[in-house]
Amino acid sequence: RILILDFGSQYTQLIARRVREIGVYCEIRPFDATPEEVREYAPSGIILAGGPESVTEMGSPRAPAGLFELGVPVLGICYGMQTMAEELGGRVAGSDKREFGYAQVRVTAESDLLHGISDHVTDAGERLLDVWMSHGDQVVETPEGFEVLAATDSAPVAAMQNPSHRLYGVQFHPEVTHTLQGQRILSQFVLDICGCEALWTPAEIVEDAIQQIRDKVGSDKVLLGLSGGVDSSVTAALLHRAIGDQLTCVFVDNGLLRLNEGKQVMDMFARNMGVNVIHHNAEDRFLSRLEGVQDPEEKRRLIGNTFIEVFDEEAATITDVDWLAQGTIYPDVVESAQSRSGKATVIKSHHNVGGLPETMKLKLVEPLRELFKDEVRKIGLELGLPYDMVYRHPFPGPGLGVRILGEVRKNYADMLREADAIFLEELHRYDWYHHTSQAFAVFLPVKSVGVVGDARRYEYVIALRAVETLDFMTARWAHLPYELLETVSSRIINEIPGISRVTYDVSSKPPATIEWE
Ligand code: XMP
Repeated sequence: RILILDFGSQYTQLIARRVREIGVYCEIRPFDATPEEVREYAPSGIILAGGPESVTEMGSPRAPAGLFELGVPVLGICYGMQTMAEELGGRVAGSDKREFGYAQVRVTAESDLLHGISDHVTDAGERLLDVWMSHGDQVVETPEGFEVLAATDSAPVAAMQNPSHRLYGVQFHPEVTHTLQGQRILSQFVLDICGCEALWTPAEIVEDAIQQIRDKVGSDKVLLGLSGGVDSSVTAALLHRAIGDQLTCVFVDNGLLRLNEGKQVMDMFARNMGVNVIHHNAEDRFLSRLEGVQDPEEKRRLIGNTFIEVFDEEAATITDVDWLAQGTIYPDVVESAQSRSGKATVIKSHHNVGGLPETMKLKLVEPLRELFKDEVRKIGLELGLPYDMVYRHPFPGPGLGVRILGEVRKNYADMLREADAIFLEELHRYDWYHHTSQAFAVFLPVKSVGVVGDARRYEYVIALRAVETLDFMTARWAHLPYELLETVSSRIINEIPGISRVTYDVSSKPPATIEWE
């Protein structure tokens, strides 16, 4: 397995995903992990990731002491290569020629890292690679024992190696797809240089997770809040495979779910798979709490607290439960982990519904804690969950509660649910659902004029939103075909009494957000 040390680059998680795609397990730790932690992890190879700081500045982050003397292969990427060069006696300097984006690298020496790799070969027989660069500083002198492997016109050391110590550095980013041969370069490092085997496959992950769950919970009972989302559904399927009837799921219907969501969850998990699921319909309680509440954050808080209250009551009816299962996935863990020095880590603020009360005194089991979303999906398929369930769009915890602007009322929720169902149904029918990352309808409690027969009618507005995004931090509005939008619009206006106008949201994030509240 591979250890990745994070110096705060936005690309660190991408490196981890790439390594796992190669079929090798890896974990991310902060750059200031102690030497003991590193030894304890017993990596077959170490990758030093990029970072936003400059090694030429005092107090900028360094690799853990003794890292280069462990006898384990190390690959430094961008900042990782610069700190390697600096720590081993080379020299790094700020450059007046900063390089951002596409660059062409000339391979100048033979190495295991870049062996047999090229995008173009010049008439003179020189190998060229198309790569993605993003740096200000550069290595200007390699440390003793190192040789230059590649260069660009502006960076004299675009890659370097010390083969006898198995230390390698690249200034460019092999983890991004713009570096065309990046995956091959990482693969040569991980498989050939570090000698790892590609054993991290969905079947292996499932088998390993089942064993770990059994070892951990033994014959104890486990409770899980099932929402119908990808993470909690895969958690349920995995736990059920591992411990069968020891698992009980609680599905809380807050009255703000998509059309028929409750029935679908019960059909799939309770009826088809035989999972114990308690279906608690708490629509009235949620809607009465929300009466008269306008503020979006207040609505989120109320929905979160009411969920905990209902879940807690159900939990109290089940005797002898020791464990609470949660569908936490790896990005949640990495994003909330801070480096000890508090440096060079980017923390994303979370939209979590809220934790469960401490008084529950349950131990936590989180079987997806080490997995990325794409791995969670793959093991969902491996466990027999349907493709459409495993690849469904994310749905926020407060559900339609944040898609009804202002006060939430039952008749608004009913109209919105219908509109949302029509939109999703047509996206599937036009084969556009899986080409968008998230798509939904929003209810606007304003009335605009319409003409029905000869009469003027003032009725509500539905806004449609569909976005394409990789990480949900930035997003572009989806360029849906007019014909699809036209079908959706006319169905919503004709089929849902109370709606007379449909609009399509063409704002990107930033500055707009994905949700309207
Ligand atoms: P925004 O609106 O912040 O959305 O651009 C980014 C992603 O987060 C989801 N989202 C939420 N998820 N509880 C959740 O569980 C929330 O309160 C919440 N608000 C936004 C949103 O659906 C999108 O996927």
